[in-house]
Amino acid sequence: CGIVGYLGHREAYPIIIEGLKRLEYRGYDSAGVALFDGTDLKISKTKGKVADLEELSNKTITKTGNVGIGHTRWATHGVPNDVNSHPHVSNSGDLVLIHNGIIENYESLKKELTTRGYTFKSDTDTEVLVNLIEDVKKEEGVKLGKAVQIALNQVIGAYAITVFDKNKPEEVVVAKLGSPLAVGIGEDEFFIASDASPFIEYTKDAIYLEDEEMAILRFHKGIKIRKIKDDSLVDPYIQKLQLNLEEIEKGGYEHFMLKEIHEQPKAIQDTYRGRLLRDQAIIKMAGVEDNMKKFLNANRIIIVACGTSWHAGLVAEYIFEDLARIPVEVEYASEFRYRNPVITENDVLIAISQSGETADTLAAIKLAKSKGAFVFGVCNVVGSSIARETHAGAYTHAGPEIGVASTKAFTTQITVLTLMALRLARAKGTISSSDYRHHLLELEMIPSKVEEALKSDAHIKYIADIYKEATNCLYLGRGYNFPVALEGALKLKEISYIHAEGYPAAEMKHGPIALIDENMPVIVIATKKGHYEKVVSNIQEIKSRKGKIIGIVTEGDEQVKALADHVIEVPETLEPLTPLLTTIPLQLLSYHIAVLLDKNVDQPRNLAKSVTVE
Ligand code: G6P
Repeated sequence: CGIVGYLGHREAYPIIIEGLKRLEYRGYDSAGVALFDGTDLKISKTKGKVADLEELSNKTITKTGNVGIGHTRWATHGVPNDVNSHPHVSNSGDLVLIHNGIIENYESLKKELTTRGYTFKSDTDTEVLVNLIEDVKKEEGVKLGKAVQIALNQVIGAYAITVFDKNKPEEVVVAKLGSPLAVGIGEDEFFIASDASPFIEYTKDAIYLEDEEMAILRFHKGIKIRKIKDDSLVDPYIQKLQLNLEEIEKGGYEHFMLKEIHEQPKAIQDTYRGRLLRDQAIIKMAGVEDNMKKFLNANRIIIVACGTSWHAGLVAEYIFEDLARIPVEVEYASEFRYRNPVITENDVLIAISQSGETADTLAAIKLAKSKGAFVFGVCNVVGSSIARETHAGAYTHAGPEIGVASTKAFTTQITVLTLMALRLARAKGTISSSDYRHHLLELEMIPSKVEEALKSDAHIKYIADIYKEATNCLYLGRGYNFPVALEGALKLKEISYIHAEGYPAAEMKHGPIALIDENMPVIVIATKKGHYEKVVSNIQEIKSRKGKIIGIVTEGDEQVKALADHVIEVPETLEPLTPLLTTIPLQLLSYHIAVLLDKNVDQPRNLAKSVTVE
């Protein structure tokens, strides 16, 4: 979910609506806004997107007021409908609140409040919270900030909240545990948001609340931050934002996803810039250098991540084991944390996350830290929760990724992990000097080769048109390109809603082969490096069962071309680097299929970009 709020001298509504649009990637089941104009509290909320909210607000409310809060929701408790949308108002009609996260003990709190006469319109945990705050505030002399604090101390779960009292509209209270919350500081004005993108054109000064902190924002009077647990005051730490507006706009592309696919040459370059110094044949990564002993003495590396980042982790497993000869395990963060894993002080945990906010990944980090492991983060969002929670790390520097289906985050994660593996391989002596140099040279050529791969766009669109009606798709790859097959299938599922499965090509004969007939498109990654002949045999097996074959091949390949229905070429490179190229046509294929099917590419149904609930 996404939160936006404003308190100051401007009209709050346009800031909130524009801000919600920028945060829509965080969820878009429903949206809502509350404004106060000095006399009336106006609320407009609806199932659907921010555009639906705008339409409704145009018809139902006057959009004036210098204080307001808004929300875009990814449903957890209660279906996405108008009533369950945020903001929620307390029984007296005074307090209005929006909330991200989950209040786990909401049922018992609700029961308690019900016995005290409170009634509830929605199924949400949020409506429980706003009434809990109201209930505490009823005590003589308890101000809003205090009431929020007392209420939150009774809550189990995760939250980022923003609340105000219409009787005291010069004050807004925010609090955070688990879900992110940033406060932008302008001149006599405050901006509140789940990330800084809603307010970058107004101010570059931001405070990111830490877990278990709350802030009381007062018009003309400034900000006070306190610890929720013990009430101690916290000195505000104001960060200068690096983000600029251009980076979060579409820049002429039809969709963010397409823009981000095309940004990959530059993004990959940005990732290795200043780190890969080919002239000197060195890789410089402070987070690795400073902790070299930990890496070199590690029994093993455990990689935790979710979704696409997990696929980057799988690619990394091949690279680390192959080049640096360090055993690697790759785990879904959500499974790892709940299965009593064996973790020792000699383990290194690498957490991969584009957003740096994924709740399960964050929890896995905390678990590993509590067992004494060294934790390294690979994140894209600077200053994100995971970046802060890890002992050390390396940013991917891909720039903001807005499309919900991850593209440039994936290839830049692989780039960072490749640099790490190469650096460690050099330190361990598991790679020869000439091999090492060769890898550096090839890595530096990847951006121009990605550019080359992107040139197949029109051809891929043509193929997409042929297969857009498919109901199932199979993606096959081996070795380094097995995780790419998984990622290709995930991309198709996410944005076109076509069922797709990724499989190691050789495993096909143990199950998926039963599905193959003339209606089944099979995308096979068959680059020249890495078990090429074996993959060719797998292609033969598909062909003899009449499956339709789309081969992702190395430029100039003739063998697969002769067998496949279509081929898409990518330039040649070293085997460990092939995922950076083979991924590109798969991203474009799913993009074009989704566009041809008229699906919402940037905001596919039911998904959210940043999943801050477990
Ligand atoms: C969500 C997104 C995916 C992403 C995953 C992990 O499910 O829709 O695209 O891969 O979360 O997110 P992270 O930010 O941790 O990489």
